[in-house]
Amino acid sequence: MKGERLLNAAALSLTETRPVSSSDDVYLGVDLGTASIVLTALDREKRPVASEMEYASVIRDGLVVDYYGTMAIVKRLKKRLEDRLGANLTRAAIAVPPGTNPADAGTHRYVVEACNLDVTRIVDEPTAANEVLGVKDGVVVDIGGGTTGLTVFKNGEAVYTADEPTGGTHISLVLMGGRHITFEEAERLKRDPAMTREVMGQVKPVIQKMASIVKHHISGRNVDNIWLVGGTCLLTGIEDLFSDEIGVPASKPAHPHLVTPLGIAMSCL
Ligand SMILES: Nc1ncnc2c1ncn2[C@@H]1O[C@H](COP(=O)(O)OP(=O)(O)OP(=O)(O)O)[C@@H](O)[C@H]1O
Ligand SMILES: [Mg+2]
Repeated sequence: MKGERLLNAAALSLTETRPVSSSDDVYLGVDLGTASIVLTALDREKRPVASEMEYASVIRDGLVVDYYGTMAIVKRLKKRLEDRLGANLTRAAIAVPPGTNPADAGTHRYVVEACNLDVTRIVDEPTAANEVLGVKDGVVVDIGGGTTGLTVFKNGEAVYTADEPTGGTHISLVLMGGRHITFEEAERLKRDPAMTREVMGQVKPVIQKMASIVKHHISGRNVDNIWLVGGTCLLTGIEDLFSDEIGVPASKPAHPHLVTPLGIAMSCL
């Protein structure tokens, strides 16, 4: 896969900083998600130099529901990056879900501009993800907090896209109900590598539902490979469940949750 090396560098850049020579050399991507906000800084050569992320619930269904809360987080993450890099961040690319209307895309822009960043580009999320993956023909499936989104690529161009409301939140709700634990406990449980087998056993029907969404949308579209991205795809073995359910080979890159954030930053260049 094309962006493997960059994804590893992006993961490393959450904790380690690569020095930059000047503010002019830094390109920023701001990913405003339902579950998390991620700022990724690259140098001129598109190498990740520093990233910051925070879990948040200030966005819903791709829309900003808490303008000031979102702004406070973006400002805080920007400041942390500036301190780490010793440089001022002045411009950023942002992304919106496919089909977002201009008014809603405008809100994303205003939030980021209110943090003293020039928005140089607004890309759509699957296009950003494919900057990293470089899929020519196949489907890119993004499973985040709220939804399962999918985009079919032919010859490197997005030709079909869909988004349906089943995501990581639903997985947590199933764990919560089944085990009589809080949502926060369910989120922690889901992320605990030692609990993967048990968690996957319990949430298999939710993942099968996500796979059935994808299967339905790609039927008759000649898709012969599936790429999984987004935070929910950190679940070990999710790609095997998808392959079995759909009958088309599914794979995921290292750090699937960083694909879209990295791609947004790459679009800034
Ligand atoms: N290690 C993990 N194992 C399983 N799920 C995880 C893990 N880490 C994060 N998640 C889940 O991933 C989801 C968030 O994914 P991501 O950061 O891609 O979403 P987002 O971009 O903020 O949301 P959306 O794309 O829906 O707007 C959450 O439901 C979170 O619980
Ligand atoms: Mg997302």
